[in-house]
Amino acid sequence: MNNIYSLSQIIGIVSISAALIFVLAKLVSRRCPSHVMDGCGYAVLITGCDSGFGHQLAQCLDRRGFVVFAGCLSPDGAGSQTLAQRSSSNLKILKLDVTSDEDVQQAKKTVQENLPEKGLWAVVNNAGVSDWAEIEWSTIDDFSNLVDINLFGCIRTSIAFLPLVRASKGRMVFMSSTFSFFYCLNMGAYSVSKRGLEAFADCLRVEMTSFGVKVSIIQPGNFSQATNILKMKTGLDIWEKLNDEQKQIFNRQYIELANEYFGFMCSKGSNDAEPVVNAMLHAVTAAQPRYRYLLGSAMDLFLFWLFPFLPTVLGDAVFSLSSMYNKRKEMIYAKKEKKKNVYFIFYLYF
Ligand SMILES: NC(=O)c1ccc[n+]([C@@H]2O[C@H](COP(=O)([O-])OP(=O)(O)OC[C@H]3O[C@@H](n4cnc5c(N)ncnc54)[C@H](OP(=O)(O)O)[C@@H]3O)[C@@H](O)[C@H]2O)c1
Repeated sequence: MNNIYSLSQIIGIVSISAALIFVLAKLVSRRCPSHVMDGCGYAVLITGCDSGFGHQLAQCLDRRGFVVFAGCLSPDGAGSQTLAQRSSSNLKILKLDVTSDEDVQQAKKTVQENLPEKGLWAVVNNAGVSDWAEIEWSTIDDFSNLVDINLFGCIRTSIAFLPLVRASKGRMVFMSSTFSFFYCLNMGAYSVSKRGLEAFADCLRVEMTSFGVKVSIIQPGNFSQATNILKMKTGLDIWEKLNDEQKQIFNRQYIELANEYFGFMCSKGSNDAEPVVNAMLHAVTAAQPRYRYLLGSAMDLFLFWLFPFLPTVLGDAVFSLSSMYNKRKEMIYAKKEKKKNVYFIFYLYF
């Protein structure tokens, strides 16, 4: 009896001490300055700097004294020109289409020839595009296009620049999305590209630990009003891509509704890029960058935090609460039902 009593006392003391040490460690790490590095002598490469998060991060890191290699899809475009005007002479615009081996190799050559004394500290894989469509409306090219840029673009860039980042025991940062784990209607191709990206980044993190390179993943929610990510399309654009069979199932009325709904959801996105840019900055400069940065409104964060823990059956059920899912079901089947009824009347009549 005495032995059991002592054992439970030991277990109790050990668990309380572990909890106290954990809380203390958290408090101490919060008190430490989070941004410890100034960029003096270091370089950073960022992809997709023509606009959006990459564009803003490039300016922040330039102000912090980094030599910034700003990869731009259109180096002569308005975005790149504005970036060059607003930055110091330490920021260099590079032509960098992440789907092109040639561009990536040329960018690497330019970076190597212009490295400051402490080398390349970080690569921020930010370039990306988004699109929306139901899987049945999509072609393999729609999927390839997104995956080529969002996934293979990052892999191509990472493989090329890893030796330089490894040499400085630096950082690899990947711009993912909450759609990497939050699955829903219309985001199939985008989710595939971002889930693949996270798989790559997770594996890379494990491999890079022994080299002292830290890998972070940024997961923004809906910030579509803060950047140029949103490329609007009309119901007609979608309709014209469908074949006759698809037109029968997804009637025109539904396509219009889906398009309006998507536009409405995007209009609710945040127009403030700052939390995302701050997270990217933290991932590049903090002594202890996080593995993942989940960003969004308080409500979104609650859902996104909870979602991965839900059993699939409950995760799927979340969507059945949405009015859009219910309308979709009604509209698609209503047409079929009507047809069935007509056939039925026909059958009775003859
Ligand atoms: N905004 C959001 O709500 C949100 C949420 C989650 C994740 N993200 C991710 O955040 C990243 C940055 O997007 P953003 O929101 O800042 O949108 P953005 O303003 O459109 O920035 C994306 C940048 O990538 C460039 N780009 C497109 N294709 C490229 C290619 N093949 N090679 C190199 N660059 C290319 C774009 O150039 P052009 O402008 O010339 O097309 C643009 O400058 C993306 O990976 C996106 O998936 C955004």
